[in-house]
Amino acid sequence: MSFSEDWLGLRAGFDTRARSRMLEGRLGSWTSQRVTRTGRPLSVVDLGAGSGNNYRHLHPRLPVEQAWTLVDADAALLTAAQRTAPTMAVQTIDLATDLEGALPAGTDLVTASALIDLVSATWLERLMARVDALGAALLVVLTYDGRTLWEPSEPFDDRVLELVNRHQRSDKGFGPALGPDAALALARLTGQRAVEETSDWIIDAGDMAMRRALVDGWASAALDIAPDESASINSWRSRSIDRRARLTVGHVDQLLIPPA
Ligand SMILES: C[S@@+](CC[C@H](N)C(=O)[O-])C[C@H]1O[C@@H](n2cnc3c(N)ncnc32)[C@H](O)[C@@H]1O
Repeated sequence: MSFSEDWLGLRAGFDTRARSRMLEGRLGSWTSQRVTRTGRPLSVVDLGAGSGNNYRHLHPRLPVEQAWTLVDADAALLTAAQRTAPTMAVQTIDLATDLEGALPAGTDLVTASALIDLVSATWLERLMARVDALGAALLVVLTYDGRTLWEPSEPFDDRVLELVNRHQRSDKGFGPALGPDAALALARLTGQRAVEETSDWIIDAGDMAMRRALVDGWASAALDIAPDESASINSWRSRSIDRRARLTVGHVDQLLIPPA
């Protein structure tokens, strides 16, 4: 599945406003202890890093020296990431097949932003097994959780959301995707050891570019699932693209700190 640099750039500001500061504070305290103990920079691997949004957000907020590796299947996005940090390490890897190769011994922190709703239950189990084997921390942010609220709403919003959430569960290259169930699946896999907080996007009536991009994406996903409803879906798209409404899109951030 491919993601455009323009889309990732558009979402960056909404991501930064949404992300859990409580989890970042907890992670920051842990990184200080870890680096004091190891005596070397914190080794961070960002899975599905894209054009580097997660790096640009988190790197300045952690209170320790860090060595990041950005991993993605899309080499062009990684090249875009390197424009903002030319010395950063990048690796072009298909994570569906070589997850373990992306997470070498010595990794202190595994992180992923807007990734785990694309993956399968089996892949998430592999990720957790590797994180546990490494004794690393895990910070997973901006996982879509199936909630979208229009204020004011209209009757067809619920049907579009239902179709979009079905589309979210289709295969994105990792097997049947967890979609809106991803954060719950991760919480279960960690034995509820993960700390979590919602990180919802708030899209105000004036945020036209973001609303247009979302409405286009949702209409296209809904049409994939229910092509026989094209008249209603296209009409909803036309009405919604410039709708003066506030949108909330539900996400979850999760942090797992390894046992001392
Ligand atoms: C929603 S984007 C998030 C990008 C970035 N983490 C961010 O927050 O802006 C998902 C990312 O996962 C990457 N991706 C999807 N499938 C992948 C795979 N099989 N292996 C590696 N990366 C993959 C995409 O190329 C894309 O950059």
